[in-house]
Amino acid sequence: MKIFLDSARLDEVRQAVDWGIINGVTTNPSHVKTAGGNPSEIYPEICRLVSGPVSIETIATDAEGILREGRALAAISDNVIVKVPVIREGIKAIGMLSAEGISTNATIAFTPLQALLAAKAGATYISPFLGRLDSAGQQGVELAKQIRTIYNNYGFKTQLLTAAIRHPDHVLQSALIGADACTMAFPILADLYNHHLTDQVLHQFLSDWEEVPKWKGGPYGD
Ligand code: E4P
Repeated sequence: MKIFLDSARLDEVRQAVDWGIINGVTTNPSHVKTAGGNPSEIYPEICRLVSGPVSIETIATDAEGILREGRALAAISDNVIVKVPVIREGIKAIGMLSAEGISTNATIAFTPLQALLAAKAGATYISPFLGRLDSAGQQGVELAKQIRTIYNNYGFKTQLLTAAIRHPDHVLQSALIGADACTMAFPILADLYNHHLTDQVLHQFLSDWEEVPKWKGGPYGD
């Protein structure tokens, strides 16, 4: 499963790249607002920092506008994925962008049928918003499972990218159902490394090592 960072903050992108763990980045208009800079500088810089796919969202709500914006965004860098909402005009635009060989991320998906339409239009990724569905009293993971089943049934190449991840268990469930990718905020990414027993046992090993005779000229630099 590919791991994407869901952020437009350059400090977070730099840190995650330094950890060597992320395969790409997803942005959205709210993330750019939070990042606080100008998208004309933020987007190219993220694309430079990250070698994998970088999703950048369109703002237009008509197919021609989305197509125009999508072409311009795709011109920023080879690794841009044009993010398009799964509204009727968006699905139409995904078909047009796809016909031009431009990769797309069909976003803000809340039903398996939206995902079916996005796949039929040739979307590269589908982004179901798990956490937001949970907040609405439904099961985000169930949606992701249904999309996985539909895509497997018909051999769609569209990649399942779970989004609006709220906790590490969403990441675990995504991996268990065979999501192709999962995008998460920086604190959740950081949390994936953690277990208190790991810290406890490591501390014990290091403290016991203090009692071991020094190995002069050995690999530990003693
Ligand atoms: C995905 O690509 C979106 O940017 C993101 O996951 C939206 O999540 P939110 O519900 O935290 O805004």
